[in-house]
Amino acid sequence: MVKSVSFKEELAKRSQEAEEILKQYGTMSERSYQETVMEAMEYSLFAGGKRLRPILLAETFRMFGGRGKIVEPFMAAIEMIHTYSLVHDDLPAMDNDEYRRGKKTTHVVYGEDMAILTGDALLNYAFETAGRAFDQADASDGSLRRVATAMQILARKAGIYGMVGGQTFDVEAENKQLALTEEQLLFIFTLKTSALIESALMTGAVLAGADEVQTAVLEQVGRNVGIAFQIRDDILDVTGTQEVLGKPIGSDEKNNKITYVTLKGLEQAEADVHQFSKKAQELLSQLPLQSGFLNELIASLTDRMK
Ligand code: IPE
Ligand code: IPE
Ligand code: MG
Ligand code: MG
Ligand code: MG
Repeated sequence: MVKSVSFKEELAKRSQEAEEILKQYGTMSERSYQETVMEAMEYSLFAGGKRLRPILLAETFRMFGGRGKIVEPFMAAIEMIHTYSLVHDDLPAMDNDEYRRGKKTTHVVYGEDMAILTGDALLNYAFETAGRAFDQADASDGSLRRVATAMQILARKAGIYGMVGGQTFDVEAENKQLALTEEQLLFIFTLKTSALIESALMTGAVLAGADEVQTAVLEQVGRNVGIAFQIRDDILDVTGTQEVLGKPIGSDEKNNKITYVTLKGLEQAEADVHQFSKKAQELLSQLPLQSGFLNELIASLTDRMK
């Protein structure tokens, strides 16, 4: 009898897979006088994140029938962009946090100047890495076009219409102590957090040949998963522990930040995590192809402790 693999085991396998790919693409071999920034890149990359975004990217690739290694540079690239966003987010000028992924933050270990450069370097190296997918692409079977489209999505979702845009309004609201409305807070969440999750779901599918309508559905799935993810992050900033989270709790309060919890209360926040997550699952069920793993992964994020 074939023993069914539990979701937990499957997730462990997938994150191990993502870890190995990141090792392969994110370890710098040629080193000279710029070695310090490379060391700091590896320090931040291999500190032990959940690797959620590469796992999502690989899964939509698989879901739409993708085969081969063309997805791997993109898996590494999205984690590099995500890691850069964390390195900069932790800087004294932003959230001013001293722990991340269970270790001292990059600026604490390497200094602020190096942490800024490490973020810059990770962002550039992400595109250098994703660009390696072109080496495996071919004009004759459409894969060249698919890699180009995936690059466009990756770039847009990381920038002013994505993560950077969200972080901009996030810190501005905090600095000016703006009385954010729910609509404005959701704008921030959609950009600062959902955008990279949308990017992961969309690029994986695009690389496997998903069409525009399917990709747009995945964008909406990502939007809802991301909002649920950020509400949960805001909750854990209050109810979590640093030991489990690997980052300090109380960071938002320290910065007088308006969060989903301060705006709507803990109880409503918990309920809304489930609401947004359910919405994501409903949208997912509209697609012609289904993934039990993706469905379970989305559900599992609602009560994650880290
Ligand atoms: C943290 O992201 C930043 C947010 C978007 C809330 P993760 O919770 O995915 O962090 P890692 O990658 O596991 O460290
Ligand atoms: C930041 O949100 C999300 C990013 C785009 C980096 P937070 O500032 O709440 O993330 P954490 O709690 O530091 O991981
Ligand atoms: Mg922040
Ligand atoms: Mg932060
Ligand atoms: Mg947070």
